[in-house]
Amino acid sequence: MILQAKSICKSFSNGKNKLSVLSDFSLDVKSGQIITIMGQSGSGKSTALNIIGTLDHPDSGDIILNEKNIQSLDESELSVLRNRDIGFVFQFHHLLPEFSALENVLMPQWINGKDGDNLRATSLFEKMDLSNRISHLPSQLSGGERSRVAVIRALMNQPRLLLADEPTGNLDEKNANKLIDLLCEINEDFQQAIVLTTHNPHVAKIGHKQYILENGSLSE
Ligand SMILES: Nc1ncnc2c1ncn2[C@@H]1O[C@H](COP(=O)(O)OP(=O)(O)O)[C@@H](O)[C@H]1O
Ligand SMILES: [Mg+2]
Repeated sequence: MILQAKSICKSFSNGKNKLSVLSDFSLDVKSGQIITIMGQSGSGKSTALNIIGTLDHPDSGDIILNEKNIQSLDESELSVLRNRDIGFVFQFHHLLPEFSALENVLMPQWINGKDGDNLRATSLFEKMDLSNRISHLPSQLSGGERSRVAVIRALMNQPRLLLADEPTGNLDEKNANKLIDLLCEINEDFQQAIVLTTHNPHVAKIGHKQYILENGSLSE
């Protein structure tokens, strides 16, 4: 098991109103597994992924990552773990506009004081059918291409777990299908576990396990 979320509760308070978003949210992710979570807008999908990805803290419940309860880790241990084991793809992919596709992909390694792994980057660009877009700026890429660059960036460190928050949310059907096919290929090639949220039933079908997030918790 690479990740376990156990009875996660999370609420937000806006002034004096408390909004319960997750209540008794539990999820097990095994190595190599694709998990899809469907839910309406506002159902808590992003909140759940942020907590699973250790970017946000639950009010109660436990996150066990690689057999370690992350509650026992301080912020710097947590960020090491996060950088090493988790890749994030957000719906709004946050590519840096003034840097090329390749530079965007290498940036996280540069920020961590490492040499960029050009070889891995180049092979991922190839795999993503983007070899001839390496020096393009984000503004010179289509929406589908930008999403694929964001996936490459998330995969650079070979994370054991890829978290994708509505990665096809702003793509047309053709580009959405292409992205999904590539994610499935990556999962087969590298045995990377994937937790993906979507509101598209067609996309949700790729899950080895498919869940619906409703009233704060998951059902199959
Ligand atoms: N930081 C926050 N402060 C207050 N409310 C929030 C915050 N983040 C999310 N929410 C609320 O929590 C609910 C779930 O949000 P979210 O997880 O983004 O849903 P989804 O990703 O499924 O659309 C929404 O009603 C949203 O307004
Ligand atoms: Mg969301």
